[in-house]
Amino acid sequence: MVRFCLECGGSLVEQPRDGRVRPVCEQCGYVQYINPLVAAGVLAEREDKVVLVRRAVAPAQGKWSLPAGYLEGDETAEQGAARECLEETGLEVNITDLIDVYSFGQESERTGVLIVYAAQVVGGELQAGDDASDARFFGPLELPEDIAFSTHRRALADWHRAQAIHYCEATADQADVITTLNDRYHLDRPRDYAAYIHAPHSALYVALDRQEVVGVSGVSLQAWNHVAHIELVFVLPNYRRWGIATHLIERCVEYGRAQGARAVVAEVPATNPALAMYLRAGFGVCGFNNAYYPDDDPQRSTALFLAYDLEPSGDV
Ligand SMILES: CC(C)(COP(=O)(O)OP(=O)(O)OC[C@H]1O[C@@H](n2cnc3c(N)ncnc32)[C@H](O)[C@@H]1OP(=O)(O)O)[C@@H](O)C(=O)NCCC(=O)NCCS
Ligand SMILES: [Zn+2]
Repeated sequence: MVRFCLECGGSLVEQPRDGRVRPVCEQCGYVQYINPLVAAGVLAEREDKVVLVRRAVAPAQGKWSLPAGYLEGDETAEQGAARECLEETGLEVNITDLIDVYSFGQESERTGVLIVYAAQVVGGELQAGDDASDARFFGPLELPEDIAFSTHRRALADWHRAQAIHYCEATADQADVITTLNDRYHLDRPRDYAAYIHAPHSALYVALDRQEVVGVSGVSLQAWNHVAHIELVFVLPNYRRWGIATHLIERCVEYGRAQGARAVVAEVPATNPALAMYLRAGFGVCGFNNAYYPDDDPQRSTALFLAYDLEPSGDV
């Protein structure tokens, strides 16, 4: 905590200013605002691996982190992130995207904000520099356990997920796996998934973590009214809240669009968290039925009907 005025050296006393108590100089009235520190870093990739540095200084000495550091007063966040990477790893990077912004230090006196960019390595030679005892590339499955700072762990976890999960249409050899998932988690009424995969007016999408099915969605087109129905969406419990169902639903919407459907519709128990997901994905509630699910259904509740309108000016 600063005790003396940065302007005149007078003593700071706590006084109300701008809606809260702040240190104010008794002599010159200077107000000491306490703002978060701003740091920037990169998740820099080369051949699907990410570069990490082992910290040679406190805090978290000896642990691995993303190349990152506090911004200088005369640089942009992107410049600072690229500079830190060059200093710590010897690598030149090209910043491609913003990954996320993370707040840190809420438990300590000084808070900060870390801006993490995605970057591609475009030059330089890997060599641990300033404040680093080692610098290395890691694949998604090789990430070290001892990652310093929760913000970096979160950024790497996000990267890992994004790296690992991919989406495609289910193939015939995945039908058995999907059937097993259905039996185990009661996603859907019993269905012949092999037939679903081959049926001309339906599509089954899977989310894969490497080769393993971790999520599935199914959609079929009703010929008489040109409406696509989402018939199931499911994500393995350990993979939930990563945006996988949202991607799977987007695939179903794309299918509807490609088939010239007027709308994509779905039905969800009012108490099911899928409702929030559909709403966020752009669906709207267009109806309900209090007596839709059978009495013995454990999820028994009101059924809500949802629609995603694909006709620019049509009303569904
Ligand atoms: C419902 C289900 C498909 C959601 O899958 P998911 O991959 O976790 O969903 P997403 O990560 O795409 O979620 C997108 C948003 O939906 C909302 N959401 C999803 N699951 C939620 C939950 N359990 N509680 C509250 N909100 C939830 C959130 O707003 C979430 O965004 P956020 O994580 O950034 O907050 C999954 O929980 C599931 O498989 N459940 C069992 C099967 C099922 O009920 N299917 C629906 C039948 S209609
Ligand atoms: Zn002063």
